Amino acid sequence: MPDLSGKVAVVTGGNSGIGLIECRELARHGARVIIACRDQEKGDAAAADIRADLESRGHSAEVEVRRLDLASLDSVREFAEEVSGELADGLDLLVNNAGVMAPPRLETEDGFELQFGTNHLGHFALTGLLFERLKDRPGSRVVTVSSIAAKLGRLNFDDLNGKQRYGRWQAYAQSKLANLVFALDLQALINEAGLDMKSMAAHPGVAATNLTSAGNDLDNGMMGLISKPFLKLNDLVIAQSSEAGALPVLRAATDPDLAGGTYIGCDGMGERRGKPVVVAPRNLALNREVAGQLWQASVEATGVEFDFNPVPAKS
Ligand SMILES: NC(=O)c1ccc[n+]([C@@H]2O[C@H](COP(=O)([O-])OP(=O)(O)OC[C@H]3O[C@@H](n4cnc5c(N)ncnc54)[C@H](OP(=O)(O)O)[C@@H]3O)[C@@H](O)[C@H]2O)c1
Repeated sequence: MPDLSGKVAVVTGGNSGIGLIECRELARHGARVIIACRDQEKGDAAAADIRADLESRGHSAEVEVRRLDLASLDSVREFAEEVSGELADGLDLLVNNAGVMAPPRLETEDGFELQFGTNHLGHFALTGLLFERLKDRPGSRVVTVSSIAAKLGRLNFDDLNGKQRYGRWQAYAQSKLANLVFALDLQALINEAGLDMKSMAAHPGVAATNLTSAGNDLDNGMMGLISKPFLKLNDLVIAQSSEAGALPVLRAATDPDLAGGTYIGCDGMGERRGKPVVVAPRNLALNREVAGQLWQASVEATGVEFDFNPVPAKS
């Protein structure tokens, strides 16, 4: 990773799992890091860990915690307003990392299905609301974290919120496909507007984190009975460490040689583990018509429009 001194990064879900490693590595390389998380206490504990890590290496970390609940558009707006106000000189890196996986059907504060609402719509709104600040910094990046689950997903435009029919894993796969489609479409729109920014996608393979541990919201019904032992086995046998899982995201965030719109995953079998390499998105994720439909649905749901006009020259 290059030296990141003078750069400012926001990482959603930076208190846990691969997000915590992303924050630590960005801070180790000199970036000012804003941990965006829904639980202040967990965020403070993560920030303390990162500070202690850097102090043990003879450095001091510039790390802060700000409250962000992606399952509430009010919270997303408050966060974006506060951070935009503070970062008058702009934002270099936004990592759309936070996520929930396979809960029973629940809704966000605004009535969206929890996974689509948190993993995709919350990040869509956040990116749109921070877009001005990202445009202020030449070469800024947005990295959106998808998953190999995106390969199995479908965007059900007739029922994106799973009101008629809900499958927890299908909804997870749909949300992660939406992350990938959004990341690639954003780059296409950046190119059309001629902006000096990059939108990247990344996935961590399978990594042992709180997401895959039995600590998530799986219930004790039939699905829980099947899924919990499977996820445990996954963590013990299949998964790589959260350190390794963070590498594709960190590469997407900092490798200076990558073109915008690159998707980084893992080089092992089935992309489940291994070194961070460029991987091919499925064809559906490159379909601009599908992407346009998702974009429109996301604008309608969140009320957030992106301003692709170039930044006026400062006098
Ligand atoms: N681990 C894997 O194998 C794997 C595979 C593919 C993709 N991913 C993706 O990697 C990303 C990070 O997940 P992880 O594996 O590191 O899991 P994790 O340890 O559970 O971290 C998820 C993070 O998202 C946060 N979060 C959840 N809902 C939120 C909300 N409403 N507002 C703000 N933050 C929220 C969590 O906060 P709390 O701590 O408060 O719950 C936590 O910080 C996710 O997007 C996930 O889909 C992971």
